Amino acid sequence: MNYRHAFHAGNFADCMKHALLVWLLTALQRKPGPLQVLDTHAGTGMTDLSGAEARRTGEWREGIGRVDDREPALYAYREAIAAAQGHFGAEFHVGPEHYPGSPALVRALLRPQDRLVACELHEDDHASLRRLFAGDAQVSVHRRDGYGALASFLPPASRRGLTLIDPPFEQPDEFDRLVAAASVARRRFATGVLALWYPIKGRAPSRRLHDLLVQAAPNGLGLRDVVAAELLLREPVDPARLNGAGLVVIRPPYGFEAAAGEILAALHRALAGEPGAQARLVRLADE
Ligand SMILES: C[S@@+](CC[C@H](N)C(=O)[O-])C[C@H]1O[C@@H](n2cnc3c(N)ncnc32)[C@H](O)[C@@H]1O
Repeated sequence: MNYRHAFHAGNFADCMKHALLVWLLTALQRKPGPLQVLDTHAGTGMTDLSGAEARRTGEWREGIGRVDDREPALYAYREAIAAAQGHFGAEFHVGPEHYPGSPALVRALLRPQDRLVACELHEDDHASLRRLFAGDAQVSVHRRDGYGALASFLPPASRRGLTLIDPPFEQPDEFDRLVAAASVARRRFATGVLALWYPIKGRAPSRRLHDLLVQAAPNGLGLRDVVAAELLLREPVDPARLNGAGLVVIRPPYGFEAAAGEILAALHRALAGEPGAQARLVRLADE
């Protein structure tokens, strides 16, 4: 396990994933019933952008470093970042130079009736997460394989929930593992909202992912109600670079396409300047 998210925290891909995550969770909270958020690959929770790892790549400068208050579609995302910084602030000396990962953003948005289950396999990152959530009765942190966790934590007792699967894509078969995970998650919790993150280096792997999710069996899973959101920084011709990022959302809450379209367009204006840059929202399968 070589991947450390601290090098990439706050980059364009995090901005996109987290802005959409904030919208999804807030939309699910329109109803008062309790929710479970399952974050299968949770990371460290909070990254100091002035720390050695983030400074070494400087990726956040081309991401959250460019998200200012000019874009109304990104207000909720910015407010969630501030809420997370405030939530952990006093106890953990968290300030504006800290960027919250998915579990910290989610935690800041949980209502008293909601729960977060966070899984992280890396020893150090798991230890950081544990410290961050020590004594928090609404959050459980597990050092275990996030894919395996699907069968353990789905369906939630509340029968309402959001599952984020955000692997590091270190393994050559990670796209296939993502499809297998989607299959398990759907089988166990058909009514839940499921979000799958993926990198875009070239176009072929994401096309294949989309096909495998929505094509009818035996070739695909035949999932219904599937939307893909993608942000490309440039034409994805050089597969050695992270040219874009995508989030497939299965069973998105009402209004997702309109809201996600605005979020992606705002991120595109803020972050993407090269030829071939594109914000795309594609409905892969109807309800
Ligand atoms: C892309 S990062 C997660 C970022 C986080 N979800 C966020 O949005 O801030 C992927 C994380 O998965 C962890 N990881 C790798 N393999 C795993 C596995 N099989 N199960 C759980 N976590 C894993 C890595 O250590 C890394 O912290």
